[in-house]
Amino acid sequence: MDARSTGRPTGVADTGSATAGQDHWLEMCRDLSELTAWHPMMDAVIDEVDGRMIRVGDRWLADFASCNYLGFDLDREIIAAIPEYLEAWGTHPSWSRLLGSPVLYEQIEERLARLLGSEDALVLPTITHIHMSVIPLLAASGTIFIDARAHKTIYDGCQIARARGAAIKRFRFEDAGHLEELLRAERDPVRLVCLDGVNSMTGNAPDLREFARVTREHGALLYVDDAHGFGVIGERSPDELCPYGVRGNSIVRHFDESYDNLVLVAGFSKAYSSLLAFIACPTALKGFLKVAASPYLYSGPSPVASLATVLAGFDVNEKRGDDLRRVLYEHTKRVLDCLAALGVHTPNRCGFPIVEIPLRDHRRIDSVGRMLFDRGVYVTLAAFPLVPKAEVGFRIQLTAANTDAEVDSLCAAIEELASLGELRMEGAPDEAQAQAA
Ligand SMILES: Cc1ncc(COP(=O)(O)O)c(C=O)c1O
Repeated sequence: MDARSTGRPTGVADTGSATAGQDHWLEMCRDLSELTAWHPMMDAVIDEVDGRMIRVGDRWLADFASCNYLGFDLDREIIAAIPEYLEAWGTHPSWSRLLGSPVLYEQIEERLARLLGSEDALVLPTITHIHMSVIPLLAASGTIFIDARAHKTIYDGCQIARARGAAIKRFRFEDAGHLEELLRAERDPVRLVCLDGVNSMTGNAPDLREFARVTREHGALLYVDDAHGFGVIGERSPDELCPYGVRGNSIVRHFDESYDNLVLVAGFSKAYSSLLAFIACPTALKGFLKVAASPYLYSGPSPVASLATVLAGFDVNEKRGDDLRRVLYEHTKRVLDCLAALGVHTPNRCGFPIVEIPLRDHRRIDSVGRMLFDRGVYVTLAAFPLVPKAEVGFRIQLTAANTDAEVDSLCAAIEELASLGELRMEGAPDEAQAQAA
């Protein structure tokens, strides 16, 4: 029997020796593992790209699943800038940062701190590296308060912190009032609050001002992961071309908040299409992380092409970023207007370019995904347990590199799915769950 006939994820099934622990995990992930084994829109091999069109086998599809929000992955100015850096530095620095870093790192950190308006910034290869190393250091043996729907990589960082003696308490999703109750009742003086900025599934931002107020009033440090907001949203301005604001300098500036008692974590791997991430923090904390955070001491660095992409990306962001964000906003608005006209539910209330569309019946995810694939539309299938059963559906991400024609094809597919009754209407529950209740 092969992996496809068991519906087990490839690799686990092939061993033929799943332990009891793995069997439990496989049962939890059954929906996802079956989709991964069978579905053309999961674990796909992309054979070719042409703009934001992708070829999977003999099918060309419009891609609405990448996080390249600004289209920097395809930007000719950025691509043209990279060879010069390769000539100067070779392909890869390959020192751990503790041993030495090309001066490009200094340039990136300086420009980043200026863009964000933070005292300083430290870059490491990925946000995952940062969560795993920095959360345990900040929490020490204190108490972490985590948003119930925080990104999995934040949870993983908290698990490491727990193994080193921290306690973990969860507050309800986006509920600053619940956080305040927990903080008020807490006796531990060391308090770290972790939450997402722009949420990777709902596309919404939390009320950052309220979270910042609550954490400051209760002597906690606020740790925000704005992977999806950096490059997309920024400070508000009378000259802004769209409600995303200007400069793409992330959620703290978007809400006109300060960095007092707040550290911002985000990355370049989404809007800037590069493998690099950062923590914006005071210089004193940066100094501490440079001797205590494992990835700075022990991990390999980002490739030179990624560092070059970031530096060239800063230039393009200064020159054309706000125009690209306006295109991104307009594409997103078209999709949200289409859903509103159809009366189809989406959790997106902020207008940012992540639009999740839950299904009327979560059991229909396979066929709905196939229909989208047949119509040439590539999206992220949000299966259980990636999202709770009541939110199973698909996630659309718009980018500035999508064309109007691609957005037309997406809207046409949504209209067809709505007419077939596959999508959840505003105010309606998930059908299978309603029957079970
Ligand atoms: C909110 C959030 N945090 C962290 C990550 C992980 O980022 P990285 O690939 O830089 O580790 C992601 C990736 O999708 C994300 O959406």
